[in-house]
Amino acid sequence: MTAPAIHIEGALHRAQSLLIDRFAITFAAGGWSALLGASGVGKTSLFRLIAGLPSAALLDGQIAASDGAPIGPRVAMMAQDDQLLPWADALDNIMISARLRGDLLQPDHAAALLSDVGLAGFERRKPAQMSAGQRQRVALARLLYEDRTIVLLDEPFSALDVMTRVATQDLAARLLAGRTVVLITHDPAEAIRLADVAWIATRAGILPCPLPAARPPRPPEAVSTLSSQAALFQRLRLISETGAA
Ligand SMILES: Nc1ncnc2c1ncn2[C@@H]1O[C@H](COP(=O)(O)OP(=O)(O)O)[C@@H](O)[C@H]1O
Ligand SMILES: [Mg+2]
Repeated sequence: MTAPAIHIEGALHRAQSLLIDRFAITFAAGGWSALLGASGVGKTSLFRLIAGLPSAALLDGQIAASDGAPIGPRVAMMAQDDQLLPWADALDNIMISARLRGDLLQPDHAAALLSDVGLAGFERRKPAQMSAGQRQRVALARLLYEDRTIVLLDEPFSALDVMTRVATQDLAARLLAGRTVVLITHDPAEAIRLADVAWIATRAGILPCPLPAARPPRPPEAVSTLSSQAALFQRLRLISETGAA
């Protein structure tokens, strides 16, 4: 699997208004990029443009993969809401896109992925019979079943309690290794823990964000993680108060 870098440049608009002024960013090939920024700045809209889906926003510019091949068919997405079908069990939820496409189903593979995310024996459970953390792990197994090289994660861990969040982050970091992963998050701790490169979206543009030298996933309690987190927190506060970097 060769996962490309993704370059984006331009300005993001919605209707007549400017969301994000002119920027040029790169999401790392085969690594984790974090995209931070206040609610409403346009992060989800930008994701939908990357995936080639209908979006509330328009990019005056371009999105390209480093290998020049189309991006949309290589993308799998995961959102804050697990988006599992309530009437379908875990196994059927994992295979739902394949079923809709009319692909030959691989229930043994789906069960193996369910086991990889720590949910062996949960094959026949419905979403209502699982915790929020377990449902997000089913969503992660569904993402892995799709087996795409580009993975867009839109605040997937933000509804989880802190210990479940750290465990799910570690699991995702391990199971998605080698893919080009972009993680939208408003949590500085999450960006500092997981990212190889990080960007902060503001109305004035998208700014690079320094990260600790240690390789991710970084231990949440390490001093270097915590001091980077504090610096990023201060910077985000400055941006939200003044709009400046
Ligand atoms: N379906 C929609 N219809 C109209 N406006 C929308 C829609 N989705 C998002 N917006 C608006 O577009 C802007 C960017 O939204 P979004 O990309 O969801 O931001 P973020 O993900 O950074 O919170 C916001 O001002 C939001 O209110
Ligand atoms: Mg959003």
